[in-house]
Amino acid sequence: MVLNGPNLGRLGSREPGIYGTTTYAGLVEECRTLGRELGLDVDVRQTDDEGQLVRWLHEAADREVPVVLNPAAFTHYSYAVRDAVAQRTAQLIEVHLSQPHAREPFRHHSVVSAVAGGTIAGLGIGSYRLALHAIAAG
Ligand code: DQA
Repeated sequence: MVLNGPNLGRLGSREPGIYGTTTYAGLVEECRTLGRELGLDVDVRQTDDEGQLVRWLHEAADREVPVVLNPAAFTHYSYAVRDAVAQRTAQLIEVHLSQPHAREPFRHHSVVSAVAGGTIAGLGIGSYRLALHAIAAG
C-alpha cells in the first residue's frame, strides 16, 4: 500500500514551489508503473481523514502488507497515526516530498519516524520511488 494523508490529493496545484507540479493522479500512475516493473501490486490511496488513515494502517497490519506512508501534516502531531504505525507487521517506510527539516520548526519533528522502518524525504516523487525499491528489495 502507498498511503497518503491530508492535502496530498491536491498535488499539482498545492504549493507547486514546494511540492512540485506532478498531480496526485500522476503520483498514483508513477507508483503503479514502478510497482509493475518491480513485481509489486501497488495500491495507492489518499485521505484527508485521520480515522480513515488509521483504519488503512490496521488493514495493512492485519494483512501483513508493506506500506509506503506519507502522513502529511499528521506526521507532526498525530499520536493515533503513530500508534497505528507501531502495530505494523511488515516494512513501513515514511516518505515526504519536501524536506521537512529545512522548513518551519513545527515540521522538524515526526511522531511517526521512531516506529517506521525508515524515512526518505526531500526527493519529491523520488522519495516514493526509493521507498518502493526498498520494499521490493525486502
Ligand atoms: C509532507 C510534509 C508535511 O510537513 C506536510 O504537512 C505535508 C506534506 C511532504 O510530503 O513533504 O502535507 O509530508
